[in-house]
Amino acid sequence: GNEPAPFNEYEFPLDSNWELPRNHLVLGATLGEGAFGRVVMAEVNNAIVAVKMVKEGHTDDDIASLVREMEVMKIIGRHINIINLLGCCSQSGPLYVIVEFAPHGNLKDFLYKNRPFGRDQDRDSSQPPPSPPAHMITEKDLIKFAHQIARGMDYLASRRCIHRDLAARNVLVSDDYVLKIADFGLARDIQSTDYYRKNTNGRLPIKWMAPESLQEKFYDSKSDVWSYGILLWEIMTYGQQPYPTIMSAEELYSYLMSGQRMEKPAKCSMNIYILMRQCWHFNADDRPPFTEIVEYMDKLLQAKE
Ligand code: ADE
Repeated sequence: GNEPAPFNEYEFPLDSNWELPRNHLVLGATLGEGAFGRVVMAEVNNAIVAVKMVKEGHTDDDIASLVREMEVMKIIGRHINIINLLGCCSQSGPLYVIVEFAPHGNLKDFLYKNRPFGRDQDRDSSQPPPSPPAHMITEKDLIKFAHQIARGMDYLASRRCIHRDLAARNVLVSDDYVLKIADFGLARDIQSTDYYRKNTNGRLPIKWMAPESLQEKFYDSKSDVWSYGILLWEIMTYGQQPYPTIMSAEELYSYLMSGQRMEKPAKCSMNIYILMRQCWHFNADDRPPFTEIVEYMDKLLQAKE
């Protein structure tokens, strides 16, 4: 429920740069739910926003992690291609972290819903049944999507932020096809990453992980570049599941170790596939930094003018 707690469970220092009056917020439908957190739609001063909060049964660690996420967002600053912090309600009641709302939801579902071909082939059963596409997405749109994500990641990398779970499910689609990277401030407990635990969509997050992350739980911007390559593949296939036959981290690691990589998707130009393959260099130093990826995409899009 939305009613204030009878007493303050926690006290947070007031940050008047970000604090919004709680009574200006009207909470609405749930947008997403994780193990410990929930995102709900809300209205504040005639604008639609998304509000992150912890669920019932949360622990102190869950609160600490939400506070940390908010503090990371404050420090990273604004960029058009990330989900920006708008404010918070931290006083006398539950902690609400208020962020930008993206009306078209996550990129994976958006691409899948609007895929122009094979709409009932290769579907995974966890996906909703197809309905006619509402948006006509061209190959150039796909490249613009990849370009925007590269710009967002270049910004995050310049702010020393490592995402650790870059995937189409963690990119949101805003108005006018503006893409925004979400959950970059999330504290991820890497040491306790359970390779066998599926995410909320029943998928193994291992398929986005660089070999050094699989093997040594090592993450940096270069491992984010690997994940970006998988995300490129998701974009060019309109939201298909990567490595459909691979079932475990061990199997994936030996597949990658032997030099095997996913094939070029049917609707993908060679230029984009070359970029994917560069992101998937086993040796992290051979992968291009996001700054170079942005420049490469600039040139590709100029050539398409
Ligand atoms: N689901 C989770 N976060 C969201 C957001 N900021 N906008 C739209 N849908 C979301």
